[in-house]
Amino acid sequence: MAELLDAVLTRRSYPRVTADTPSTQELLRLIAAAGRVADHGGLRPWRLIELRGDDRVRLGAALVDASGRTGVDAERLAGKPLRAELLVAVVASRKVSPKVPAWEQDVAASGVGHLLGLLLADAGWGVMWRTGPFTRSRQVSDMHGLTEKEELLGWLYVGGVPVELKPGSSPAIDPAHFLSTP
Ligand SMILES: Cc1cc2nc3c(=O)[nH]c(=O)nc-3n(C[C@H](O)[C@H](O)[C@H](O)COP(=O)(O)O)c2cc1C
Repeated sequence: MAELLDAVLTRRSYPRVTADTPSTQELLRLIAAAGRVADHGGLRPWRLIELRGDDRVRLGAALVDASGRTGVDAERLAGKPLRAELLVAVVASRKVSPKVPAWEQDVAASGVGHLLGLLLADAGWGVMWRTGPFTRSRQVSDMHGLTEKEELLGWLYVGGVPVELKPGSSPAIDPAHFLSTP
């Protein structure tokens, strides 16, 4: 328990990461754990997409296409997915259910994203969950091969922790501020 608390309390996002990345095998090991989130009806309404190499270039092109930007602005946008060698797209993959509405399914999908980020951080990787104004554009959905029932929740940008940024943690919160009675 102390170790879990410590892992959560010391997690921080890394806006810059090095080119090292976890292997697909390592990712799978962590996904097996992240996929244990509370999930109403056990629908598993999520999936993850691993983007490496040229996948990130294609994502950049899709962002530019969606934005309509040109010139330097387009180049800047195209370069965004290149900030890490590995991006893990977190996808809300809603299932047809008479019992579990879409929002509940999205909560489970979001939980997988947070847990995977935490597990990657605990394994020593630098992670940052990112989105942007074109995350839910048709061009970006198509690039990921999403179905009509699927929507992106963003990407975990994953890489090595730059030595100069280690160690650190997110600012503490005042828990009393977030807990009340009805
Ligand atoms: C769904 C989601 C999308 C996010 N998108 C961005 C983003 O596009 N850009 C950004 O700077 N931070 C984004 N963040 C916040 C960062 O991931 C990070 O949590 C924040 O910078 C605070 O740092 P910390 O995690 O170390 O507390 C997002 C977080 C979530 C959960």
